[in-house]
Amino acid sequence: MSKVNVVLGTFYGDEGKGKIIDYLSENADVSIRCTGGNNAGHTINVDGKKFAFHLIPSGILNRETKAIIGNGVVIDPKVLIGEIENLKQNGYTVDNLFISDKAQIIMPYHIMMDKLQEELRAERKIGTTARGIGPAYTDKFERAGIRVEDFISNNFEELARNNIAKNNKTFKMYGKEELNADKIIKEYKEYAKILRRYVVDTVDMIHELLEENKKIVCEGAQATLLDIDFGNYPFVTSSNPTIGGICTGSGIGPKYIGEVYGVLKAYSSKVGEGMFMTEQNNEIGDTIRELGHEYGTTTKRPRRCGWLDLVALKYAARVNGLTGLAINHMDTIGKLDKIKLCVGYEHNGEKTMRFSTNNEYLKECTPIYEEFEGNFGDISNIKTREELPENAKLYLNRIEEVVNVPIKFIGTGADRNSLIVSE
Ligand code: GDP
Ligand code: IMO
Ligand code: MG
Repeated sequence: MSKVNVVLGTFYGDEGKGKIIDYLSENADVSIRCTGGNNAGHTINVDGKKFAFHLIPSGILNRETKAIIGNGVVIDPKVLIGEIENLKQNGYTVDNLFISDKAQIIMPYHIMMDKLQEELRAERKIGTTARGIGPAYTDKFERAGIRVEDFISNNFEELARNNIAKNNKTFKMYGKEELNADKIIKEYKEYAKILRRYVVDTVDMIHELLEENKKIVCEGAQATLLDIDFGNYPFVTSSNPTIGGICTGSGIGPKYIGEVYGVLKAYSSKVGEGMFMTEQNNEIGDTIRELGHEYGTTTKRPRRCGWLDLVALKYAARVNGLTGLAINHMDTIGKLDKIKLCVGYEHNGEKTMRFSTNNEYLKECTPIYEEFEGNFGDISNIKTREELPENAKLYLNRIEEVVNVPIKFIGTGADRNSLIVSE
């Protein structure tokens, strides 16, 4: 039986997971999104055209690949329909799209509640994407959510009406406009009609495909330090973007998992609030932001930028059991004269490789940096690691040495072909 390869984010998201999935999907029969919702934005540049996927697995760009939205995903139907339309307009067929009957639906009250909660948190806000993700997962675990199977059935109206009435009480209490149940139900019934044809029991389907020896890749969304358990709580998302979420979000048991690729950038970036040990809130950070075009795919927010943190990367390697690294934006970091790499933290006068998401512990730590030479020149057409300039090789070798996980992919530009592969 074939093994399922997995692509995960190692830091705070936006590491370039979409690009790696796009490459792996070329040789895969199936690609699966397992967690999160349209808080994700995965970019792929194909022949000068930019695609940004929020819900549909990026693998759909390879026309033969089946694209599955797994049970762990929270789906905003309006956004999904928009993505389907965009693909169709660009000449792609979406006949290969399958949606889990067990995925959850994001409703308008989730989005309103997300915004309201951020308002109430005031200066302690998380900086969410305001897409209703947290409230949708809250409802799922509170067992008040609307599953896709209910969304497309006659149960929908009653479930939606009850939930809207419940949420309206809160909106009223905080002086917000109440939602019109009739209008929403009418609108969402139309969405259900459009999406119904894509809905299947994906767990069953995935296992049949596994038995047929089909090649499957799972597309992680968000990232390790945004994980509800393993990230910098409370500045995290409301799901498990780490390896466990891949299993529970798809119905694939650990024995089927093969390679687990951790994606990172040659530097680090973050959107939203919370700790970021190697952040450069200065000219260096500004330069990296401009060189790497670090503005959010989903919210367009400027991303906070800084150096690569190998203490955090080692933690991500442990938590996910990474078997390989994919390091993007080597072209971007190579435009700097000097590059710093965090190879440890100083804690109470001693060097440590211990990462913890305990924010008090992190505040007591100071990054220890090693400096590397930049100026890699144009590397976008280089196809083997050996051909890279010496300065780039020294930087990559040191990362591998400290983290002890082999680098399997090296991103040398935004285009889908600017990738060195040594699988
Ligand atoms: P994801 O959420 O992990 O899929 O990443 P995003 O798509 O949100 O952000 C990654 C950004 O970096 C996108 O704009 C990509 O086009 C771009 N990108 C990915 N790999 C590379 C690379 O190796 N070099 C450059 N210059 N850009 C890259
Ligand atoms: P991809 O898959 C970057 C961040 C938000 C915020 C926190 C909580 O493109 O890497 P949420 O809306 O999930 O409740 O927000 O998580 N966040 C992301 N940051 N990339 C993402 O996805 C993200 N998904 C959520 O910015 O800090
Ligand atoms: Mg992204």
